[in-house]
Amino acid sequence: MGSSWNGVSMFVLVGLVVNSLVVVAFAGDLYQDFDLTWGGNRGKIFNGGKLLSLSLDRDSGSGFQSKNEYLFGRIDMQLKLVAGNSAGTVTAYYLSSQGPTHDEIDFEFLGNLSGDPYVLHTNVYTQGKGNREQQFYLWFDPTRNFHTYSIIWKPQHIIFLVDNIPIRVFKNAESIGVPFPKNQPMRIYSSLWNADDWATRGGLVKTDWTKAPFTAYYRNFKANACTWSGTASSCASTSSNLDGAWETNELEAPGRRRLRWVQKYFMIYNYCTDLKRFPQGVPPECKRPRF
Ligand SMILES: *[C@@H]1O[C@H](CO)[C@@H](O)[C@H](O)[C@H]1NC(C)=O
Repeated sequence: MGSSWNGVSMFVLVGLVVNSLVVVAFAGDLYQDFDLTWGGNRGKIFNGGKLLSLSLDRDSGSGFQSKNEYLFGRIDMQLKLVAGNSAGTVTAYYLSSQGPTHDEIDFEFLGNLSGDPYVLHTNVYTQGKGNREQQFYLWFDPTRNFHTYSIIWKPQHIIFLVDNIPIRVFKNAESIGVPFPKNQPMRIYSSLWNADDWATRGGLVKTDWTKAPFTAYYRNFKANACTWSGTASSCASTSSNLDGAWETNELEAPGRRRLRWVQKYFMIYNYCTDLKRFPQGVPPECKRPRF
């Protein structure tokens, strides 16, 4: 009698352990990968670690950061942005290292009045220097559903993707003297804050606080990346469900076609063509062919 009870409880126990391992391996666990770092209870992880939200009210925004530091890889996250009147709000989602000569790879989503388009602002900092903005409209409403925003960071190039469509490529141009992020591990950061002095139509449209709190949602984080332990890098994936896409060295023809499509129809600002801003000539990486 006693032994069969033991048998049953052993079985149940093994079952529970296996189930929780399966959850960790297949669903991802935002508790495990991120810390809420700013904004008190305005940042939340819920649904058993499957969903994260940040919110902004008159008193504060909120933010999170990854527990891991990464050095190269492909990082995917699905975001659903602040819906309705999001004018004046900015949702930043980026990779960054620390210090005055830090490197950074940025997505920033600039909110707008209901029905007016969000702007996706991108930038790349190397050795503490940015000024490499490109901005895009999106070909969908980013507040209706979750969409996947990805960064492929390799020694040869950085690619920004939206729903797996490349929107921007920053090539390694060290051979012509442009620093490239390759020695400093980066964490993933995100924050939702008020920037109504510049975000929407250059600051003309202010945040409507009667609509607060403003909330953005995150899910399905995947890092097919090398994590940095402080002394060494280990290149294991922290997720199943890998697509291997970051293994490709160059964009394949369909990727190049889609990149051209986005740049032709959705790009609204490119520092590389801003001759007013760079009267002495655009930065050297701009003069290279795009691919
Ligand atoms: C907001 O909408 C206006 C009007 O369509 C547009 O000019 C602007 O680029 C949009 N986005 C931002 C962030 O200002």
